[in-house]
Amino acid sequence: RTLDGGGRHLLPGLIDSHVHFRTPGLTHKEDWAHASRAAVAGGVTTVIDMPNTVPPLRTGEEAHRKAELLTGTSLVDYRFHLGVSGEDPSPLRAVGPREATSVKVFLAGHHTAPDVVRDPAQLEKVFRTAAESGLRLLLHAEDDGVFGLLDEWRGEPSGYAEYERHRPRSGAIVAVARVLELVRRHGTTVHVLHASTAEEADLLTAAAHAGLPVTFEVTPHHLSFTAAETCRVGARARLSPALRQQADQERLWRAVRTGQVATLGSDHAPHTREEKLRTPAQAPPGLPGVQEMLTAVHTGLRRRAPFEPPDAQLSLLVRLLAERPAELFGLDERKGGLRPGLDADFVLFDADERWMLGPGPGSGPGSSAIHSKCGWSAYEGWTMTGRVLHTVRCGETVYRCEGDQAEFGEPDGRWLDARRPTDVEPR
Ligand code: DOR
Ligand code: ZN
Ligand code: ZN
Repeated sequence: RTLDGGGRHLLPGLIDSHVHFRTPGLTHKEDWAHASRAAVAGGVTTVIDMPNTVPPLRTGEEAHRKAELLTGTSLVDYRFHLGVSGEDPSPLRAVGPREATSVKVFLAGHHTAPDVVRDPAQLEKVFRTAAESGLRLLLHAEDDGVFGLLDEWRGEPSGYAEYERHRPRSGAIVAVARVLELVRRHGTTVHVLHASTAEEADLLTAAAHAGLPVTFEVTPHHLSFTAAETCRVGARARLSPALRQQADQERLWRAVRTGQVATLGSDHAPHTREEKLRTPAQAPPGLPGVQEMLTAVHTGLRRRAPFEPPDAQLSLLVRLLAERPAELFGLDERKGGLRPGLDADFVLFDADERWMLGPGPGSGPGSSAIHSKCGWSAYEGWTMTGRVLHTVRCGETVYRCEGDQAEFGEPDGRWLDARRPTDVEPR
């Protein structure tokens, strides 16, 4: 079979190594079928799902059960990051390399983070066990005090934006410094998620230069919005970690453009409109983003460097959204590029098309529907540059759009356990 690309760019299927698809237990916010449609519409063919579901995902056995539950519902291939409870990190010891190679650790709690490791002795144990078991730790590095402050805050909802604007950035910086100290002591391999401040980027870059096994992630939200957005739309832009200042955003862009950042992750964390419109202290943090990630970051790159060749910008995006996540999460013999021998996952991308996220079919040729079940996007009203036209996973079309019409393929995405492809029976 051949595919006429009409002069568009062919990219490898993207790997989003940071999504909250909300299954099981939180399916009023999002479910796997909707989320996987949003993913393929955004050029993503593989996701790694976060463990803060209900119940949380903590063991290899639970990973097998979850994979079974998802059979027949997913347009994308998937893998899971396990979670770890603050009371008892010992199940980490029993994780086989087949079930997971990575564990998310929350250093602070909030509405959707049930598992928080607060006790310093337990945290040491988590870092030590992970180092011994060869697991990569993914850190949500924020200080609990940050959330405590918000919960105690009794101000007027209209003053919320002010509150968020001054929300202590030190919470994230201190937490990252603490993580680096633990890495020094135990030699644990660590990936710091959603770095949001200039100081974190500086600390993490210096640590990597000094030879510590640390990498970090940046989200499209922190590259696209600043605290000014919180002032404009209030709690709807609430995010953990919070949106920061312009100078932070510039530092994050520099980290992206100079290779200091290892991966971009959407942190797709949908909540219902109703939940986001609650009073500030009750509105849960998080924004959807798996559909928007590629095009939002591409739009930002174009805006910052309009005369840079499109190929250079797309190569950078492929590095951050396919090659590096594949390397970090043991998918590199299966996904992450367009080399022979890898799964035939690819995306046809028109780097020049301008379009908007719209309410759905019939909203005009320059628009695409929001596919997340939550039905809203922080990027509504944005003119995006660069559009996914066609997504193929394992040789089959899973998404195609023409004008404002979208078509999806069969939801036969697979669990990518961490076996080497040579151990896997041919399809
Ligand atoms: O903003 C966030 N939302 N940060 C997190 O760490 C969790 C996420 C969620 O699950 O809603
Ligand atoms: Zn997080
Ligand atoms: Zn997250």
